[in-house]
Amino acid sequence: MSNPSLLILPGDGIGPEVMAEVRKIIDWYGAKRDLAFDVSEDLVGGCAYDKHGTPLHDDTMAKAQEVDAVLLGAVGGPKYDTLDFSVKPERGLLRLRKEMDLYANLRPAQCFDALADFSSLKKHVVAGLDIMIIRELTSGVYFGEPRGIFKEGNERVGINTQRYTESEIERVARSGFEMARKRGNKLCSMEKANVMESGVLWREVVQRIGDTEYPDVELSHMYADAGAMQLTRWPKQFDVIVTDNLFGDLLSDLAAMLTGSLGMLPSASLGAPMANGRPKALYEPVHGSAPDIAGQGKANPIACILSFAMALRYSFDKGDEATRLEKAVEKVLADGYRTADLLGEEGRSPVSTSQMGDAVIAALDASL
Ligand code: NAI
Ligand code: MG
Repeated sequence: MSNPSLLILPGDGIGPEVMAEVRKIIDWYGAKRDLAFDVSEDLVGGCAYDKHGTPLHDDTMAKAQEVDAVLLGAVGGPKYDTLDFSVKPERGLLRLRKEMDLYANLRPAQCFDALADFSSLKKHVVAGLDIMIIRELTSGVYFGEPRGIFKEGNERVGINTQRYTESEIERVARSGFEMARKRGNKLCSMEKANVMESGVLWREVVQRIGDTEYPDVELSHMYADAGAMQLTRWPKQFDVIVTDNLFGDLLSDLAAMLTGSLGMLPSASLGAPMANGRPKALYEPVHGSAPDIAGQGKANPIACILSFAMALRYSFDKGDEATRLEKAVEKVLADGYRTADLLGEEGRSPVSTSQMGDAVIAALDASL
């Protein structure tokens, strides 16, 4: 059998720096766990624009459709701010998501004990926190028609349309229930059925999928604004949350920040199953290209490393190895390794991007 395939798109800014650390970890799995990947690497974002005049070349797009998983660093930077909207670095990322039809965006919010003091909330509220937010990613108000800025009498009107079909709700609801079965068997669905018809349909469809296909999963519904309050008041009441594109954008950012730095946050975007039964998948850190620290060896590689751990779990059926990697990260943090973003006001000197990566490798070695 051939090795599982992985397309790596480091992108711009700190993307290549954090990805270099992931490459070390991928090599480690090949050498020490007999888990070799067919890795190919290509351009996305500003660097692709510089070379090809487009943020995502068709050949790269085609490759992304074929591989078992795509791992992306970050795109963008001030150099590209004045480019036309159609060729901006972000368009490369949006094209990947759209053409791979990645409708379920997985955003874990997990608090590592060593960083509990770093949260903006009290330690006992976040210590041990481990929740998963699933955001619908390919429909809703960011895509609905009609949209635009129109002239209406003497003034202009800006219009966006929240639109969800039953099948769009069904498939992301299933992602939520499947995730719940893999975790605490508890799913909370969030919308605003009190004021939005699309929310009424959302609630009805999620309930039906639950009743007919997942009666074993404990399902609850919450208005998204109440959800925001509950997430800040007592986030540990949740396990898996499923919600739409707009509310998911806000709630996943909110939940993520409960746990500390942007440099710690992984994500996965999953689509429909391929011929091999695995979902189409794109893994990426939540952060951007961080031009303010790019090229200085300051970036925290953990978000990208944890994104690879998600790939091990969700694309390669290697949950045990994903846990091994997450535990290695946990150990490194417990041992006091901190990149600059994890230090706040403390007077300690930070470790560099590559020192953090090396520490994770050493912790992986120690796990054998
Ligand atoms: P950003 O996430 O790049 O940076 C925000 C702040 O967090 C900066 O101070 C940065 O230094 C810090 N930071 C981010 N990641 C870090 C890490 N791994 N370690 C340590 N510190 C880290 O967001 P910003 O500044 O709004 O955007 C910068 C560029 O990135 C823009 O061109 C933007 O369009 C792009 N971007 C790309 C994304 C992606 O590729 N998915 C997502 C967000 C922004
Ligand atoms: Mg956001």
